[in-house]
Amino acid sequence: MKVSAAVLCALVVVQAAVLLSAASSAQASELKVGYYGKKCRGVENVIKWHVIKALRAHRRTGAALVRLLFHDCFVRGCDGSVLLDKSYDNPHPEKEAPVNIGLAAFDLLEEIKAAVEDRCPGVVSCSDILIYAARDAASILSNGNVHFDVPAGRLDGYVSKAEEAQAELPDSVDDVKKLIETFAKKNFTVEELVILTGAHSIGQGHCSSFKGRLSEPSSQITPAYRDLLNYKCSQGYNPAVDNNVRDEYYDTVYKYMPGFTSRVRKIPDFLDNSFYHNTLAKIVTFHSDWTLLTDKEALGHVHEYADNGTLWDEDFADSLLKLSKLPMPAGSKGEIRKKCNIVNHRLY
Ligand code: HEM
Repeated sequence: MKVSAAVLCALVVVQAAVLLSAASSAQASELKVGYYGKKCRGVENVIKWHVIKALRAHRRTGAALVRLLFHDCFVRGCDGSVLLDKSYDNPHPEKEAPVNIGLAAFDLLEEIKAAVEDRCPGVVSCSDILIYAARDAASILSNGNVHFDVPAGRLDGYVSKAEEAQAELPDSVDDVKKLIETFAKKNFTVEELVILTGAHSIGQGHCSSFKGRLSEPSSQITPAYRDLLNYKCSQGYNPAVDNNVRDEYYDTVYKYMPGFTSRVRKIPDFLDNSFYHNTLAKIVTFHSDWTLLTDKEALGHVHEYADNGTLWDEDFADSLLKLSKLPMPAGSKGEIRKKCNIVNHRLY
């Protein structure tokens, strides 16, 4: 059958309009706990199974997932924009921003997405998968102490810009005033800033992210710890160092901080309130962590959470949940991506 160019054009326009209206109407719907109950039965268990498997193989992946939630949701809301690879159309996605150094767990999310697509094609967004996976990781790494139900129904966005990530995410060289401003722009309080930064009880950072700390005075960093960091950073090109000294090799801690050896743990990456003890002792990698001690209100919360680990577990869960509800900018369009690193259609 021959179809004229005009008819073809009209068909394409109608199809695009249908896709756009489906995207925008879905965008308007509320997030709901159990959103996929009927749409994709058992999907939360599928995701959890993959996260458990991945963390058994490499526990550190859990920290990567928790950080990804933060970095996705803080920029354009939780829309999977941080998961997009660079492309001809978009040579500088969020991933390329210097502030996104060290992001990981992308392969795991693709693996989960493929499994979920096999089960229910075109139903579950990458942004929801990321939140579920990060929630599960936080729960596993805290031995179940950090837990919350995830309201779902997010869409995956089309836009991902490195310059937005660079402008909106906090930097490890920031002072407390700047951190407070950055979080306030997303409607997070000083207390929530302090609570969320407690995530630095797990994971790693590259030496380039804290090079200024290597020469900071003893009023800002415990000299023995500064020596330890200097040693670690002299080992190869821009190595990654544990955020929590408790996760360091026993021998390294013994050499530089013998008084700390009793706190070295056999299982690394335990998500708890140890960040606050370390911060008060000035044994933290990032300048931004230490700077929490220089604001009266923030310091009060550092003490509060150092003194009460159970309260931190609960408040951290609440704050992660709040992060996970950050919406896409008003009027944004979305879709359910087939793969998490690439958009399905060019609708913009
Ligand atoms: C307060 C401002 C924050 C700053 C300046 C900051 C900065 C950083 C930096 C520079 C790294 C290391 C990156 C690298 O060199 O590889 C890092 C790691 C990490 N951050 Fe933050 N962060 C902040 C808040 C948060 C929040 C709110 C969370 C989560 C709720 C978070 C979770 C993590 C985790 C889990 C890691 C370790 C990741 C891994 O090992 O893969 N951070 N952060």
